Amino acid sequence: MIEVKDKLFHIKTRNYSYLFEAEPHGHLQQLHFGAPIESMDADAFRLKPLLGWGSNVLYDEGDMACLDAAALEFSGHGRGDYRESPIEIFEGSRPLPTDFVYKSHRVLKAAPPMESTLPLPEGEAETLEISLSHLDALELTLYYTAYEDVLCRRAVLKNISEREYELGKLMSFMLDIPGKYELVGFDGAWIAEAHKSITPVDRARIVRDSVTGASSNRHQPGFLLASPAATEEHGTVYGFNLIYSGNHYASAQRSHQGLNRIMQGINFANFKMPLAPKAEFEAPAAVLGWSGEGFNGLSARFHRFVNEHIVPQYWRNRPRPVLYNSWEGCFFDFDQKRLLSLGKKAAQLGCELFVLDDGWFGARNNDCAGLGDYNVNLKKLPEGLSGLAKKMRALGLDFGLWVEPESVNPDSDLYRAHPDWAIVDELGEIYGRHQLLLDLTKQEVRDYIVDSVGKVLDSADIRYVKWDMNRHSTALGAKAHEYILGLYEIMGRIFRPRPHILLENCSSGGNRFDLAMLCFSPQIWASDDTDPIERLDIQQGLSYLYPQSCMGAHVSAAPHAQTLRTTPLSTRGNVSFFGLLGYELDLKHFLPVEETEIKNQIAFYKKYREIFQFGRFSRIENEDCQCWQVSKGNTHIAGIFHRMINAAPGYEFLRMSGLEKNRRYRVASRQQKLRVGQFGALVKHIAPVNLDPNGVVLRTVDHRYAMDDGQESFTASGAALDAGVALSSLFTGTGYDKAMRVQGDMSSYVYVAEAEK
Ligand code: GLA
Repeated sequence: MIEVKDKLFHIKTRNYSYLFEAEPHGHLQQLHFGAPIESMDADAFRLKPLLGWGSNVLYDEGDMACLDAAALEFSGHGRGDYRESPIEIFEGSRPLPTDFVYKSHRVLKAAPPMESTLPLPEGEAETLEISLSHLDALELTLYYTAYEDVLCRRAVLKNISEREYELGKLMSFMLDIPGKYELVGFDGAWIAEAHKSITPVDRARIVRDSVTGASSNRHQPGFLLASPAATEEHGTVYGFNLIYSGNHYASAQRSHQGLNRIMQGINFANFKMPLAPKAEFEAPAAVLGWSGEGFNGLSARFHRFVNEHIVPQYWRNRPRPVLYNSWEGCFFDFDQKRLLSLGKKAAQLGCELFVLDDGWFGARNNDCAGLGDYNVNLKKLPEGLSGLAKKMRALGLDFGLWVEPESVNPDSDLYRAHPDWAIVDELGEIYGRHQLLLDLTKQEVRDYIVDSVGKVLDSADIRYVKWDMNRHSTALGAKAHEYILGLYEIMGRIFRPRPHILLENCSSGGNRFDLAMLCFSPQIWASDDTDPIERLDIQQGLSYLYPQSCMGAHVSAAPHAQTLRTTPLSTRGNVSFFGLLGYELDLKHFLPVEETEIKNQIAFYKKYREIFQFGRFSRIENEDCQCWQVSKGNTHIAGIFHRMINAAPGYEFLRMSGLEKNRRYRVASRQQKLRVGQFGALVKHIAPVNLDPNGVVLRTVDHRYAMDDGQESFTASGAALDAGVALSSLFTGTGYDKAMRVQGDMSSYVYVAEAEK
């Protein structure tokens, strides 16, 4: 609901209130963003003027108005506000002083309010449109679109004069809020995405940005502002994110008076955008959320918003298949025979989709050649994609394909025919993974990609596409933004007419994990790192901002390709359950016990798929281990994950949240197994005969039989589970029974709690 009284604007939903007004000089003053309140509270929120301005520049000597101390919705340059400005405009080399003041407003019963070249959320919402003007030369329109869980803000700047300007910065939103906060960001690198970082917001400015041409694995565009006392379940947490996939910028800084200035938008580092007479520039939409129920409360709102308003309509709340991906198992080394044998095994294990990753086209036998040429390699695949897809279908599997259409290898037919299509500057050809970026700002390049990828997709029964991007841009300047607009056009033209194709974005893993990509692809490959222990950080980091339904999470080989860490198969499955389960390893070498374990994992995941993919996700605080929970209706599933286990471990408790306090729940652990072989020479202490730990008897037993690990079931009330119920003991150096949790380092357990009728 949007309530307007004179020039007081109140955006109110069940979950938040956002209140501001145009003050007598026309500046938009922020009054409240937080718990739902009444418009009549406005007076209570108005900041009482501070006296004695000393060295400050006043906006009005008459009423002592001083912008530097005001809580504003947007600020300009040169009228006394010395904090960071969200806008910079130049006329020639001269920075333009700007003062945007209220001109008009409209309430629109719809969203989005206008055609846009940028992706926007969809679905029912009301929009408040406010026009501000700077000396009748520039018009700044601020849009506030109210969704139940979050508020979307964006800004459009129009040159309404006859003068030539250049835009040096235009943030999507700015906000001044009182309080003391910590900024929670998610930072990383390749194979180490989205690691949580905490920085107090204080007088020095915090900047989170990207200049790689992608939203980047360095600094995730989404971030939070949390009261230092906030926990997963209690306290004030704000969330911010940008619906954009290119270079982004966000900053947070606390003023002397205790106002925190937050802004976010495109990163304008190294370029200015011409703003000719009558031209306009549109900043991408930003998402603002608030929760009084801690981090989990904020995440629940962001997750619902993504599931209901961001991902393409066809895939909203539609279950995602369990997939097998050929990459880590085969790399470039495959032919149809090998793929079909993997497909057969994948189908037997319970997978539903076979994804053929890199290496199926042109001269793509390694990553040095072939990118750009999407003709099928008939030596590897003599029956083409359609023959392969048909045979996968006959095995009971859908078929999906990897493409990387934004780049070109210089060793490719495409590059030889159109060297000018690659982006090269005066520093010459600079390669990333032996490839150059194609210039998506050129219409003929966009048409080539739409046409060539479209033909591939229509050439066979293809139900899934993994769209990769592994080359990061260098100093593209304004072109970086035009590139991203070109990319959105391409994705829209290819996938809007083919809504049934499940698109998974990837950029060397999670290098482009952002809300704009999710507007096209319902899921994103979270990281090239599939080591489950690393994934505990990566998936947990992403979970603050994005739902499990959009996070690709695969079980891969141990020792792991990137860490050489050996982890239990049970843990590899248990971590992947809390995302979109897939398998990415050579299935040929499985032992019978491993096959059984995988079959059980897939069957378990399918049984609870709706809950794992679309249930409410919570991070549960537990000092002994890392805990995740998903809940839907009367079913709650918790995973508890260990890293290194100590000798003589203490007691451990299972805590679950959001259960009905007075109801009783049947709780049962997921059936999981323990390899006999991992006990090595210790087996001789319990075996009646002295077995050789490297001998054939023990090897045979290890390959065929496995022991139960941590099998327990009990009933408890919701209140008891909320307080924490005692779990069976961890291995303490002696003894075994099937309830004991013996797996040791990197072990994990999953518990299902179902309400009794
Ligand atoms: C990137 C992706 C991987 C895989 C390879 C193929 O690294 O992140 O998942 O698709 O490319 O070359």
